[in-house]
Amino acid sequence: MRKYRLAVPGPTPLPPEVAAVATLPIEDERTERYSAVFMRVIDGLREVLRTRNELLLFTSSMTGAFEGAMQNLFSPGDRILVVNNGAFASRWTELTRRFGLDVVEVASEWGRPVDMERVARAVAATPDLVAAVAVHCETSTGVVNDMRAFGEATRSVVSIVDSASGVGACELRTDEWGLDVVVAGCQKALMTPPGLAFVSLSPDAWLLHRRATLPRYYFDWDKARDAMLADIPGTPWTPAISLISQLDVALRGLLDEGVDETLARHVRLGRMARAGVLGMGLELFSPDDDRGAAVTAVRLPEGIDSRALVGHLLAEYGVQLADSAGPLAGRVVRIGHCGHVDAFDVVTVLSAFGLALRDLGHPLDVGNGVAAALRVTSPTLVRGLR
Ligand SMILES: Cc1ncc(COP(=O)(O)O)c(C=O)c1O
Repeated sequence: MRKYRLAVPGPTPLPPEVAAVATLPIEDERTERYSAVFMRVIDGLREVLRTRNELLLFTSSMTGAFEGAMQNLFSPGDRILVVNNGAFASRWTELTRRFGLDVVEVASEWGRPVDMERVARAVAATPDLVAAVAVHCETSTGVVNDMRAFGEATRSVVSIVDSASGVGACELRTDEWGLDVVVAGCQKALMTPPGLAFVSLSPDAWLLHRRATLPRYYFDWDKARDAMLADIPGTPWTPAISLISQLDVALRGLLDEGVDETLARHVRLGRMARAGVLGMGLELFSPDDDRGAAVTAVRLPEGIDSRALVGHLLAEYGVQLADSAGPLAGRVVRIGHCGHVDAFDVVTVLSAFGLALRDLGHPLDVGNGVAAALRVTSPTLVRGLR
């Protein structure tokens, strides 16, 4: 008997009731019944994003919706700023340059949050700037950037946030923080199989859209909005019908738990993961900070290669963790704890992680790490433990 345990920061494990929806007969999407499901998903996402802005849903991974946002917001040569402290921000620099945008990068060390005062100074010092991009939770390192401060630093331009792994796990107050465009997907804390992405848009974002000339078709925001304003609201093209039904069930679960309660659970899971790692005598790569609620990055001891460790964990323990790429390749492993995850999932993953490191020749006290993690979630239960 062998169990597979998925513990990467997306895709994430599905709640059984979400998985079950995929087995239902496919239905026509242009009916009032299905349209009600679709609109409930739109409203649920707005609730999770804490926004009254319009929200458009696309059948695509998050990168597609982000590319669509660039096509809908800009004209060739527009000057934008990208705040870069990780692999996903680097992707946005590359992508926006492909579209002929004039990209000013505020580069910052991987593994540390960006200093938003630097961003504010860069915004003030850059003439003709129209927008600024930042990643909320930089999944490549586990760092969560301060989106409230980003919103403040970018008041004079349109702010664009990649919250792919932030939404549903890390605090996000779209309207209160003045975030004009938020782009994310459904396969992380939103507990749905990959394939859906969405964008929320402030009135200022729509204004910028009005003058944007980059070509677009599939991701055209006007077409998406018109389809939502039709007699039977829906999408301009055939959507991933079953995924939307699955996201509907996942969102109902999240909203039943409560947005605040869901975020608080993720904060606890992050604390457990970090306490467990430190309790085993290992070093964190991501900061030891409550913002790190979705993913914990661990710097591996000398002589342990992350690819070997991830492979061994899967082969021997059935636990899937995430390796790292770019400058972190070989040295950092990431534990995802977002979505349908509870305290005992984190304990299991930490146990396997510690055992695998021992197997590969690094001596450590697995029990110490597990006890430290348990102590976070239940101090009284673990009082007797070392
Ligand atoms: C922060 C962040 N941005 C963007 C993406 C890209 O999303 P997708 O793979 O859905 O295109 C991811 C996915 O891992 C992510 O974590």
